[in-house]
Amino acid sequence: MPVITLARVKELLAREEERYAAEHPRSKDLFEQAGKNFLSGVPMSWMRIWSGGFPLFVDKAEGVSITDVDGHHYLDLCLGDTGGLCGHANPAIVEAIHEQMQTKGTTTLLPTEDCIWVGQELERRFKLPYWQILMSASDANRFALKAAREYTGRRLTLAMNATYHGSVDETLCFMVGGTLMHYPGMLGPITKDPSETTRMIEFNDVTALEEALATQEIACLITEPAMTNVGIIKPEPGYLEAMRELTQKYGTLLLIDETHTMCAGPRGFTGGTELMPDIFVAGKFIAGGYPGAVLGFNEAVAAWLGKRIPWQNFFGFGGTLSGNAVAVAGIRTALEKVLNEENFARMIKLAEIMEAGIAALIQNYNLDWYVARIGCRVEFRFTANPPKSGGEALFTEADYNAVDLIEEGLTGPAEALVHLYCANRGVLLTPIHEMALVGPTTTEADVRRYVSILEEMVRELTA
Ligand SMILES: Cc1ncc(COP(=O)(O)O)c(C=O)c1O
Repeated sequence: MPVITLARVKELLAREEERYAAEHPRSKDLFEQAGKNFLSGVPMSWMRIWSGGFPLFVDKAEGVSITDVDGHHYLDLCLGDTGGLCGHANPAIVEAIHEQMQTKGTTTLLPTEDCIWVGQELERRFKLPYWQILMSASDANRFALKAAREYTGRRLTLAMNATYHGSVDETLCFMVGGTLMHYPGMLGPITKDPSETTRMIEFNDVTALEEALATQEIACLITEPAMTNVGIIKPEPGYLEAMRELTQKYGTLLLIDETHTMCAGPRGFTGGTELMPDIFVAGKFIAGGYPGAVLGFNEAVAAWLGKRIPWQNFFGFGGTLSGNAVAVAGIRTALEKVLNEENFARMIKLAEIMEAGIAALIQNYNLDWYVARIGCRVEFRFTANPPKSGGEALFTEADYNAVDLIEEGLTGPAEALVHLYCANRGVLLTPIHEMALVGPTTTEADVRRYVSILEEMVRELTA
């Protein structure tokens, strides 16, 4: 088995960092200027997590391509960490949004006719009958958890260890040895002690699930149907069914968050299954790259919410711009023209080719990595055995990528190398993940190019 050493990773990383800095003087300069007015030099702090010391500044993004301010062109496999799943500046979406804004208005605090089609389509795809439109998946999850607490009269949220559901206080924590902790240095001083709001369990552990629910203190179980934020972790056979059965047995609402797993296909990971959640959330891509999110409720929760007079529903839930006409037009067009059967079939076929290419690489070079795929999303990780839970994923990575959360942040050395190696050769991956998304206009040549860049890197790493 070839040994990848930390020393070799660091040697290549230093070389790639030097090249990145030398080839991106304009981005570097803009980043330094932005540092005078923006926290961490970026308008939103997630933008700071790209490897290389500073992020690329974008000149334009179109389809699955990005051009930076230094004139470099990239194949974009990050796609805004799913926000750009429809492809950047998708012509159908641009046209719909442009028409809406130019001739029909943006935000009037009144509904538009598009919402009739959107409501019917959401029910057809995701089965739940009642919907609200919000500005982000974080918004939708926050609304849902509050509603669940009031509906059940219970105080606690149950979530999977190492999960991420957006800027949602209840789930911004993780568990070590059964103790809940805030992510180091993040929000401790400004959010509640997680033990007051939250219980966590490991994904795929039915016994822990039942023990937590049996306390009858849990208002809502919030989960992705397959975990995506610590690599891809699929549910074991029967796990989703157990979630449904046990939440019903103990009077807990089941919230399925398909913000990332929608990449499984037009109906998401669960839409094509028997699983019927009580609450459903999807955001990011849903309005074609324009801000928007959808939140679905079952009959019982909707009937209960519907009994309240409207102002009781908007205090604490959503905001003035939620459900604005442009977001609704974007959702309609994204669902009707882009996130349809035909496009998904193409995207998934290409993602299968990508997955097979990386799997062959892992096998041919005897790497201690694994690769997994959900629909058009492909990710590899630096561990040989696919973890079954978030806890396993957090704490099992090859030494050459081991990252001390407290000292070093979220990106390990091998991870930083993969990202910079690819960026320097014209391919962008999602930061802090080895995640690649196939978009509507990605080609087979794009996929093969990405795999061959990885192979070039592996050859150098194992030389
Ligand atoms: C599963 C999941 N849900 C919700 C969110 C939050 O989305 P947003 O940041 O757009 O609010 C994320 C973000 O990564 C996510 O991964």
